[in-house]
Amino acid sequence: VSERGRRAAAPRGTRDVLPGEAVERQRVIDVARDEFARYGYGRIVTPTFEETEVFVRGVGTSTDIVRKEMYTFEDQGGRSLTLRPEGTAPVVRAFVEHGMHKLALPVKLWYLAPMFRYEAPQAGRYREHWQIGAEAIGSADPLLDAEVIALLDTIYRRLGIPGLRLRLGSMGDPESRGPYRTRLVEYLERHRSSLDDDAQARMRDNPLRLFDTKDPRVAQVMAGAPTLLDNLSPAAQEHRERVLEALERLGIAYEEDPTLVRGFDYYTMTVFEFTSDRLGAQSAVGGGGRYDRLVEALGGPPTPGIGFGAGIERIILAMGAGEPGADGAVLDCYLAVPDAALRLEMLTLLERLRAAGLRCESDLRGRSMKAMMRHASSLGARYAVIVGPRDYEEGVATVRDMASGEQTKVPLGDLAGALTA
Ligand code: HAM
Repeated sequence: VSERGRRAAAPRGTRDVLPGEAVERQRVIDVARDEFARYGYGRIVTPTFEETEVFVRGVGTSTDIVRKEMYTFEDQGGRSLTLRPEGTAPVVRAFVEHGMHKLALPVKLWYLAPMFRYEAPQAGRYREHWQIGAEAIGSADPLLDAEVIALLDTIYRRLGIPGLRLRLGSMGDPESRGPYRTRLVEYLERHRSSLDDDAQARMRDNPLRLFDTKDPRVAQVMAGAPTLLDNLSPAAQEHRERVLEALERLGIAYEEDPTLVRGFDYYTMTVFEFTSDRLGAQSAVGGGGRYDRLVEALGGPPTPGIGFGAGIERIILAMGAGEPGADGAVLDCYLAVPDAALRLEMLTLLERLRAAGLRCESDLRGRSMKAMMRHASSLGARYAVIVGPRDYEEGVATVRDMASGEQTKVPLGDLAGALTA
């Protein structure tokens, strides 16, 4: 069978955004952009791909992302490049590259960008997804943690995301994590017989990730495991308490979750995740945390930072919008010119109406008058502007209110004003 006529499809795990969803998507972006400005963030755009090294060093070699989810390729010059799987490492790379530590700190940057991860696709999980994200680099103040969380919370509230929960954890500082890890591994060694090969491998390279397990036997073992929250250093404990205090002052409800593990090696201290109960297994609408060692790991001076990323597709799913056609564009007017000879004449009228800010459409397929009226109502036009040969001679248009059917004559020169009134 010839492949020539085969129907092409979007690559597995990717999706097209059709105009019906585009309206809702734009609203998410507009609200986020507005809040980013209010909280003092400037926009940063980084390349779609980076040297692979940025993610290996930034995200970390024990993470699923670096181990098995990156879209890595070699370019014609033999460089290893990777499509951005997440936004934090590239932003920090740019922070270091442009010497931004010399600016007033913290430097606050926001982004809107597609992310690429070779994950198993399912509802709400794609191989290309879009994030809005923010990074505040250059302060270890716990009030900054609270402000970053408040920013994301405000965006969700303005969008009206239902069933929202905020979970909060701490990864501790490296000083608390080292000894804790030893305790956890000791505990796991004692329960080795309940761990499969996979879990035993995890135990060696990243035992904390076992809190994330889907395996019921492993989950049972983890339920009795010592938690990092109970083993924080005094400094990490103090930081955590200051963050909780500030969130309480701001009236932001949270739940502490000692098992909250996020899939990046760069996290230190505060980590958080927002979920919506309107989503299935992939319930996280956004998450983030502190990364006090990341700037150094990417070659900059020791500089703490914190940020978040929020998935646009998940936000839209949680809002229950995004069905194609659910929220299509609405037209102000539909210009109907039944006489073919007049269509060219009326082109400039259409342009004038659009220049006046009206959303206008017209027939571009040679429809009959009856078909034009059907077309106008299927596009949701408020008015049909009909210019028949007699109207044209008199220099007027017949304006029909599509909802009431009421018709009035309006001079062609007054149309824009009459329709915007
Ligand atoms: P993340 O939790 O991997 O964090 O992603 C942030 C959000 O992006 C998730 O909560 C989810 O809404 C969405 N998301 C992630 N993966 C997918 C996917 N495969 N399909 C659809 N949506 C997805 C980060 O990426 C960190 N860089 C966040 C951060 C910024 N931490 C500090 N600063």
